[in-house]
Amino acid sequence: DMYMDRQNALGRDYSQAADRERHALALSKVDSEKLTSGPIVGGRLLAGTHPQDVTNPFDRSQVLGHVSEASPTDIDAAIEAAARAQVAWDRAGGSRRAPVLRAMADALEADMDRLVALLAREAGKTLNDGVAEVREAADFCRYYAMLAEKDFGGPQTLNGPVGETNRLVLHGRGVFACISPWNFPLAIFTGQVAAALAAGNAVLAKPAEQTPLIAAEAVRLYHRAGLNPDLLALVPGRGETVGAALVSHPGIDGVAFTGGTDTAGAINRALAARPGPILPFIAETGGLNAMFVDTTALREQVIDDVIVSAFGSAGQRCSALRVLYAPKDSADSLIEGLKGALAAQVVGDPTDPATDIGPVIDTDSRAMLEGHVERLSREASVLARATLPAEVARGDLFAPTIAEIPTPDFLEREVFGPILHVYRYDPKDLASVARKLAARGYGLTLGVHSRIEAFAEEVIALVPAGNVYINRSITGAVVGVQPFGGEGLSGTGPKAGGPNSLIRYASEKAISNNI
Ligand code: NAD
Ligand code: ALA
Repeated sequence: DMYMDRQNALGRDYSQAADRERHALALSKVDSEKLTSGPIVGGRLLAGTHPQDVTNPFDRSQVLGHVSEASPTDIDAAIEAAARAQVAWDRAGGSRRAPVLRAMADALEADMDRLVALLAREAGKTLNDGVAEVREAADFCRYYAMLAEKDFGGPQTLNGPVGETNRLVLHGRGVFACISPWNFPLAIFTGQVAAALAAGNAVLAKPAEQTPLIAAEAVRLYHRAGLNPDLLALVPGRGETVGAALVSHPGIDGVAFTGGTDTAGAINRALAARPGPILPFIAETGGLNAMFVDTTALREQVIDDVIVSAFGSAGQRCSALRVLYAPKDSADSLIEGLKGALAAQVVGDPTDPATDIGPVIDTDSRAMLEGHVERLSREASVLARATLPAEVARGDLFAPTIAEIPTPDFLEREVFGPILHVYRYDPKDLASVARKLAARGYGLTLGVHSRIEAFAEEVIALVPAGNVYINRSITGAVVGVQPFGGEGLSGTGPKAGGPNSLIRYASEKAISNNI
């Protein structure tokens, strides 16, 4: 079985001196290079417009490199080259595309230390998060290579009357715009591109404003792995200008987007206003993710899983836990345990192997989170904040926070960062509490901690979610193991890293032959 025979990528172990030394070497190399990003068209880095410094979120005085934006002319040139190259790439079929994606996976793994260093410097990722991200990127490439062979390896033969042959063929749609967020600047960037390519499309990829360097690195790796450079262009720039120009361009045939729910709405409206064909829009967006605990749950396990889910990756995962629903009889004990566990988290320099939680992505994000904490101190109750090291002034460290909220639907929308909200519920009100949360309209991840099957079933029935986790953390979906993605305000599907991932990147043609 091709789904069962696969293997996920391997990692690093920073408790080992050899892995730590490799990391230190890669970091000093990244620091000494002058990294550049900008429009990459036909494999060439173009001058672009609006040049800017890219800085380190942990220390804004460190300039990592430079980026320039793609101009409208750059986008036109990229689309023209992509459309031309796409025809042969599509005709080549999935079995000829798969080896290129596998070569990309190998290239990512071979460059693991450098990529982890860059993820730490540009995106503030801890080393373990960086490793997980490189592995996920490689996993996406291999998984979609497998799907390319399976779904695009040749026609599916269908039954029909005697004398007639019927075939169903999948093929690429043309040129895809792939628009990605900063929070998985390598895994989601690489994964969207891999899916679009696997299905026989060419791609213009627009990375988030905050993370253009790692995106340029990924594009160079794809090209070095043997991809015709015309099939993948990088078009960096601001969302409202470059992103908006891309989705309104008459030359694109589909959009894959991961990012905020509001941005997805704006893109959807821009797509609706286009003349011509209706384009597929694949959107993976935000969540208002909850975990429901009952009194049968194992306290220590709940505490570990909540800390990882809410504060891991500085809470900057779409899957991260935002609201913990604790039963009133064990809420005090859980909260005490969570405060102790939060106090033990090391917040600081993400390149230090001892760090658990790095900075948040930028100053706007930090200000938004501090504003939310102010609101919590007025309208709710702030229970604990982690301590920050002394050197915070130079970067965007934010003290992870636990707060208790007075109503089950206190949060109207996603708050993206390391803030855990706790709501104490009376078990006899479970259904109404869960319905209030559900009425917010999100549906990404959901956790349940209980040893009673019926409790889990009830919560799952009440709260919409694309990914449900019982008695474990609610983050860290693994490609091919937990296909990932939400419903409602959280996304359109199909899930990333699952057996149906490629279908909306493709067109279907049914051929009925009576020769
Ligand atoms: P964002 O929506 O601000 O930006 C995402 C991308 O969209 C960026 O590249 C941005 O430049 C671009 N963009 C912005 N406005 C645009 C426009 N008008 N037209 C075209 N492109 C535009 O999101 P972000 O802050 O980068 O990422 C964080 C968000 O992403 C969170 O809400 C998080 O939940 C979500 N996310 C979801 C998933 C998932 O799989 N569901 C995964 C990761 C992140
Ligand atoms: N796929 C990522 C996770 O599950 C977002 O945490």
